[in-house]
Amino acid sequence: MSISAHDERQTFKGRRILVGVTGGIAAYKSAELVRMLQKAGADVHVCMTEAATKFITPLTLETLSGNPVRQNIWDLRGDSSIAHTEWGRDMDAVIVAPATADFLGRLANGLADQLLLNVLLASRMPVLLCPSMNDLMWANPLVQQNVERLAELDRFRVLSPGVGWLACGVVGAGRMPDPADIVDAVARQLRDNDLEGQRVLVTAGPTREHFDPVRFLSNPSTGRMGFALAYAAWERGAEVTLIAGPTSVPAPTHVETRHIGTTEELLRAVSEELPRCNLLLMAAAPVDFRPEVSHEHKQKKGSGMSAVALQPNPDVLKAVAELEHSAFVVGFAAETQEFERNAVQKVRRKQMDLIFVNRVGAQAASTGFSSTTNAGAIIDSDGRLIRQVELGPKVAVAHTLLDEAIRRMNR
Ligand SMILES: Cc1cc2nc3c(=O)[nH]c(=O)nc-3n(C[C@H](O)[C@H](O)[C@H](O)COP(=O)(O)O)c2cc1C
Repeated sequence: MSISAHDERQTFKGRRILVGVTGGIAAYKSAELVRMLQKAGADVHVCMTEAATKFITPLTLETLSGNPVRQNIWDLRGDSSIAHTEWGRDMDAVIVAPATADFLGRLANGLADQLLLNVLLASRMPVLLCPSMNDLMWANPLVQQNVERLAELDRFRVLSPGVGWLACGVVGAGRMPDPADIVDAVARQLRDNDLEGQRVLVTAGPTREHFDPVRFLSNPSTGRMGFALAYAAWERGAEVTLIAGPTSVPAPTHVETRHIGTTEELLRAVSEELPRCNLLLMAAAPVDFRPEVSHEHKQKKGSGMSAVALQPNPDVLKAVAELEHSAFVVGFAAETQEFERNAVQKVRRKQMDLIFVNRVGAQAASTGFSSTTNAGAIIDSDGRLIRQVELGPKVAVAHTLLDEAIRRMNR
């Protein structure tokens, strides 16, 4: 399950999305894009330019979307004599992926010699443009002028192409973003952006305290809950900074990420970022102790090391309570027993605004550290149980928690 979990959440249920495909080599990726949107509940319709049909067949996109593919202005299919202006008006959003240099130029100049251009000119729905082309073409000032002209209009969002191997055999900027990233961008575009203008700081993952360069004290946190929170806040329009401990799970691509190793580094990063943030979500699982001595070189088996003396690490949540800031603070408690009682004590002791408590350990496979799902309870600063959160993908749990945090921040 990906962090954004669109399939499980059915993010686009009840939404009609038009995918415009133009004649670029990345057109093969549009098949995957259509499939992803359809699996996430969208009613997907496809409009192709004539050049696009040289790269991928309409049959493929028709089969994947479950709807007839439209290609030309003169093909009215008997449903309307003015289909070129009316068809597509009831769509919730349009994605053009890939968008060729040629198509961007025509659109920026208000031309209407293709069905897709007619549909876009004669409607008002939001449009996500995903340019994809050769790196020199993308860097060309004429193409850039067209892109800038489109991006100036509120209605158009341009998802800049990525850097990577291009079909022409060079590495450069011009690659169409991954379909998964395009789907996330549409989810953000369609969602009520109730965190727009807010700066959100999220901590995620474990910390590591080294005995020597190859051995450390840590915990099984994967960072998934914090990553889900960072993604969910981004989906709601926030500007997000993520502070992530070492984990093999990839962090969400849309947010700025600072990587840390130890609990002290985590505290330092939080202290630096916090003053400019409105909301702090602390889902990291910092290690509470560190070895008194951290050896510079690997300790050999026969080195006589039989016990490791530990010293306490700074308490990050407590330290945050002592910092000067105006952020709304949400903490996490992972408990193996008496989980609500422990959380009530923690929320009071560490002066948080809300706390989310979930069960971890051997009896909690679906809510534990490495799980992709979670469930638990939200408790307020007075120790009152606000609500139980039922089992779901971590990003769904993150949205429920954000609903409660936003409601209280706006009071
Ligand atoms: C093999 C091949 C690959 C192409 N790839 C791209 C591309 O990735 N991006 C692009 O902007 N144009 C690309 N073109 C050029 C477009 O296909 C051409 O400009 C065409 O007129 C675009 O038509 P459309 O914008 O109506 O779809 C490619 C052409 C060929 C022959």
